[in-house]
Amino acid sequence: MFRRPCRMFRKPCRDPSASPFKPPGSSESPEHVKIKRKVYAEGTYKSVCKGRFIAGPRAGQACVAKTFRNPKYGSFAEQWAGERQAMRTAQQIVEAFNHAMVIKEELRVLAPDIMTCDDGTGERRMVEPLIRRYVKNNNNAGWVNPSGDPWNLVMQALSHFSYHATGGRFLLCDVQGGSVGNVYSLTDLAVHSETAGRFGLTDNGKHGFVNFFKTHCCNSFCRPYWLKIEKPSGGPISTPCAPERKKPRWKVPARVGCHGIF
Ligand SMILES: Nc1ncnc2c1ncn2[C@@H]1O[C@H](COP(=O)(O)OP(=O)(O)O)[C@@H](O)[C@H]1O
Ligand SMILES: [Mg+2]
Ligand SMILES: [Zn+2]
Repeated sequence: MFRRPCRMFRKPCRDPSASPFKPPGSSESPEHVKIKRKVYAEGTYKSVCKGRFIAGPRAGQACVAKTFRNPKYGSFAEQWAGERQAMRTAQQIVEAFNHAMVIKEELRVLAPDIMTCDDGTGERRMVEPLIRRYVKNNNNAGWVNPSGDPWNLVMQALSHFSYHATGGRFLLCDVQGGSVGNVYSLTDLAVHSETAGRFGLTDNGKHGFVNFFKTHCCNSFCRPYWLKIEKPSGGPISTPCAPERKKPRWKVPARVGCHGIF
């Protein structure tokens, strides 16, 4: 695990049926899922129950079903539209990050399907594979997980990379998910843009960019040439960072290719 990337041997699987993960896009599914009534977790916007896929290529696997908690933020369809747009952009950024070969391991964005829940309610909810050992890496208000775990450092670098690779137009944050072997699965990502709200309720616009760089400490997975917000008086906006407490075990390649996206 965590070796220098090699372009020749890394072939991400593009066949959704061969994997429990699907690229964003496919959303309406005729399949049903078995869901427990008890709420497993709650976030700011969503309520989450655990369950199991009962049909299709993921039959038997554990899943979560998410529903929006508060109708004051709009109907299910309206809130889902914002989520979906953020998810699609997140997917493009994550693909660019994978191509840039910052690490050999692969990152994936989980794409929920809208499925009918067999819990007596018959509700349609957003269903995606359960992530065991769930970790929150950063949020959309500048909070950073202080862990020196290499995966956590990669996730902070992913957020920084997103700003660079989009030419300062977007910033991917609210990075959360979990690793299984060499793959880190991400869910519920937020994207800040130059126009707050473009990517739904979690898009804080330019304030989001500033809040990220106020607390972001570049680590060994970031590149010195990646775009940053500068203070009006010059110099990076972030406060000086303490050296990484624990050196990541990964060997970082000398240089990465940066694919201009968007
Ligand atoms: N795929 C998943 N596997 C396991 N737990 C999850 C998964 N997705 C979400 N959760 C749990 O549910 C919580 C809320 O879900 P999330 O999608 O982040 O909602 P919100 O938009 O309200 O932040 C998360 O903080 C996490 O604890
Ligand atoms: Mg969340
Ligand atoms: Zn950085």
